[in-house]
Amino acid sequence: MIKNRLLLTDDGSHTIFSEKFGENYHSGFGAIQESKHIFIDAGLNTVIDKNLTDLRILEVGSGTGLNMLLAYLWSEENNISVTYYGLEPFPICKNEALLLNYPNQLGIDKNLFLDIHNDIGNSKKLSGKFLFQVNSDLIEDANLPDSYYNVVFFDAFSPDAQPEVWTPDIFINIYKSMVADSVLTTYSCKGIVKRALKEAGFRIEKLPGPPGKREFLRAWKL
Ligand SMILES: C[S@@+](CC[C@H](N)C(=O)[O-])C[C@H]1O[C@@H](n2cnc3c(N)ncnc32)[C@H](O)[C@@H]1O
Repeated sequence: MIKNRLLLTDDGSHTIFSEKFGENYHSGFGAIQESKHIFIDAGLNTVIDKNLTDLRILEVGSGTGLNMLLAYLWSEENNISVTYYGLEPFPICKNEALLLNYPNQLGIDKNLFLDIHNDIGNSKKLSGKFLFQVNSDLIEDANLPDSYYNVVFFDAFSPDAQPEVWTPDIFINIYKSMVADSVLTTYSCKGIVKRALKEAGFRIEKLPGPPGKREFLRAWKL
């Protein structure tokens, strides 16, 4: 297994440098800050008043599990049931998960966080309201259900590191898997990403980014 490097970001939360992809998993300006801004505030908080009883989330690249952990806290805070489906073909190893300081930073039980990284492939509960499954499929090969997801977190490495996952074909597949009036958020605002999302049928918005990042994208399936 390739050894990754653990790094501290400016908000005090960890990230990992991926030796395989040559990039950090999160912004050096703050991992938790970035995830909350792009995926929780711009993603989950936009569907909060739609009165959904069971929210279905797809994450492309679930990695450290930080987005899932924040989605779990959001589900508890807002009393909304969540079914969370993560795709992660290159999972971090248990020792790396053990070192991450997200449980401390977010004030939650370490074992709950480690549960995310056990038994990849099985469907499990983090609470009565939060069901999750992480699968090892590449997004290129994933067989996604039709008209199912309410929110998509698109969090692969950058288009420079992995251009093969930011293509119209991939976004068309994801678009089909989403219900009407649903939302996808992603940190990249590159031209090829905007064009690929538009070609897939999304209506896109550029939004102000978290510290250190001017803009990011929210894409709607209307
Ligand atoms: C920028 S990191 C973000 C990880 C995660 N969201 C987090 O908060 O830690 C990108 C993730 O995408 C995963 N990934 C790489 N190629 C992928 C692919 N083809 N399909 C799905 N995920 C992929 C990587 O293994 C990595 O965990």
